[in-house]
Amino acid sequence: MKTITLFSAKSYDKTFFDLHNNKFNLQYIDARLTAETAVLAKGSDAICVFVNDELSQKTLIILNELGINKIAFRCAGINNIDLTAAKSLGFTLMNVPAYSPEAIAEHTLGLILTLSRKYHKAYNRVKEDNFSLTGLLGFNLHGKTVGIIGTGKIGLATLKILKGFGCKLLGHDLIKNAKAEELGVDYVDLDTLYSQADIISLHCPLTDLTHHLINKKALSLMKPGVTLINTSRGGLLDTPAIIASLKTGHIGYLGLDVYEQEDKLFFEDRSNTIINDDVFQRLLTFPNVVITGHQGFFTEEALTCIVQTTLSNLDKMLAS
Ligand code: NAI
Repeated sequence: MKTITLFSAKSYDKTFFDLHNNKFNLQYIDARLTAETAVLAKGSDAICVFVNDELSQKTLIILNELGINKIAFRCAGINNIDLTAAKSLGFTLMNVPAYSPEAIAEHTLGLILTLSRKYHKAYNRVKEDNFSLTGLLGFNLHGKTVGIIGTGKIGLATLKILKGFGCKLLGHDLIKNAKAEELGVDYVDLDTLYSQADIISLHCPLTDLTHHLINKKALSLMKPGVTLINTSRGGLLDTPAIIASLKTGHIGYLGLDVYEQEDKLFFEDRSNTIINDDVFQRLLTFPNVVITGHQGFFTEEALTCIVQTTLSNLDKMLAS
């Protein structure tokens, strides 16, 4: 039986993988994959990694020396690997390109509605028998202009929901999506999207081109009071520039499911430790900022699909 080592494995990974696996010897490792932890995969036929595992050139060289050259990503984005090094070392990589775009799209809507109707505040107030509405004034989504950057699978699923809310839909992408055009999405350049959208949501991958896409200049073009949502990758935002814009009130609402330095924070219970990331801590102080810890993908349906596809990817990789 082939052995697979899963890094960054949580209890839910074990639950879902054990439920669907009948082929492999699965070894679950709680630690993140880094150059320091790579040796834990010794004796494995392949490894399985997640979004915050660190597949640097150094890590890949160690894996290669251990005779491991097959990596299954149990996620869509593969921005956490040095692709040049992986290619030159002859690694085979497989990811889960599509599992449930609706899971992330619905989470995006959750963030928008939480911010627009202040559910995060209302929840706490009612818990304390405070039924005052002062400060909870929201805004309708109906009639608002929403700009989606990256109109692939998740962007399209988000646009479909927003159409139901009665929003005017703007899109920006390197490649137009015919299905988005059928929905009535107007493709515009970035500057137009920034200047016209009341709500902007990011659904493009993190690449050299999109790194810090939302920076001081982009923010200066946005409408005062804009709602900005990022469920894609933290590196799309220049976070200090975002904080400066929140401080002046230019950004009206910010919803995040990802954060550039999330690899040192997310997916662990840190409630009894001191968080040393002052940028993240500053973000948490704003009343108009809602942050979730990379849970967009975390639905029963999405996890089932991720696990089934990953096991099938491993099967294909190890057959060759
Ligand atoms: P996709 O590949 O279907 O769509 C991405 C779209 O972005 C494509 O249409 C592509 O042409 C476009 N794009 C690429 N570079 C661009 C640029 N410079 N400017 C504008 N558009 C650009 O990918 P999918 O499945 O929709 O996922 C999007 C992103 O969502 C992933 O890259 C990943 O980072 C993130 N994600 C987040 C999850 C979460 O749990 N929060 C879960 C899954 C994905």
